[in-house]
Amino acid sequence: MKKIVIGNWKMMLAPTAGRNLANDLVKLLPAKNSAEVVVCPSFTALELVGEAIKDSQIELGAQDVFWQDSGAYTGEESPASLVELGCQYVIIGHSERRQGLGETDQMVHNKAATAIEQGLWPIVCVGETYEERHNGKAEAVVHRQLTSALQGVDLVGSEQLVIAYEPVWAIGRGQPITIADAQLMVQIIHQALLDVFPLTIVQGNVRIVYGGSVNATVAQEFANIEHLAGFLVGGASVKADQFVDIIKQSI
Ligand code: 13P
Repeated sequence: MKKIVIGNWKMMLAPTAGRNLANDLVKLLPAKNSAEVVVCPSFTALELVGEAIKDSQIELGAQDVFWQDSGAYTGEESPASLVELGCQYVIIGHSERRQGLGETDQMVHNKAATAIEQGLWPIVCVGETYEERHNGKAEAVVHRQLTSALQGVDLVGSEQLVIAYEPVWAIGRGQPITIADAQLMVQIIHQALLDVFPLTIVQGNVRIVYGGSVNATVAQEFANIEHLAGFLVGGASVKADQFVDIIKQSI
């Protein structure tokens, strides 16, 4: 499978700033790029960014989705609305939502299952806190988050799933995890995926990416980690030149 590099713009750009960044990315990205590239603006920027990238190879993703198709759910967004705006991917279970907004494993599961049913491909985030790592619980936490999110979820045909391993303590710090720790955690995630899906699905439909203080140097250092297929980038993804450098190094 192709490597995938995803930009999580978080709540960092208003719609017009998002469109400008998308225009810059379209200009800067090589016409034939061998990594898949996805940008995930905030909900209000999806339409403008979608228009800016529509004739390019860049794909659109959202940062969250609700688990119902429609109804009285104030403030939520349905999978169908995101699909209508051109989204192919959706980030689910980011630690900023799990920690700051009380999103549970069950909610992450509901969102991932509904997204796939409705034609969106989930980028499911997993990762331990500093305290959990310090107490030797990193592997157990990530295994639990992954299996509870995906147990009972079916992938068929060309449906794609991305697992983003983001150690919470490495996000926005300028200091990523060590290569050795990344290797170990990616291996744990690969193994956990095999507890949930058949080998052919894990090999053909699922990619594992790393997120947490990714820059071009980290992308180059981590590019050859076994079973690692790309990156989920926060801060550096809202700087066009830095994001393009990461994409180039990740292949
Ligand atoms: P940073 O790249 O800013 O550390 O953010 C990572 C992240 O949370 C991506 O989802």
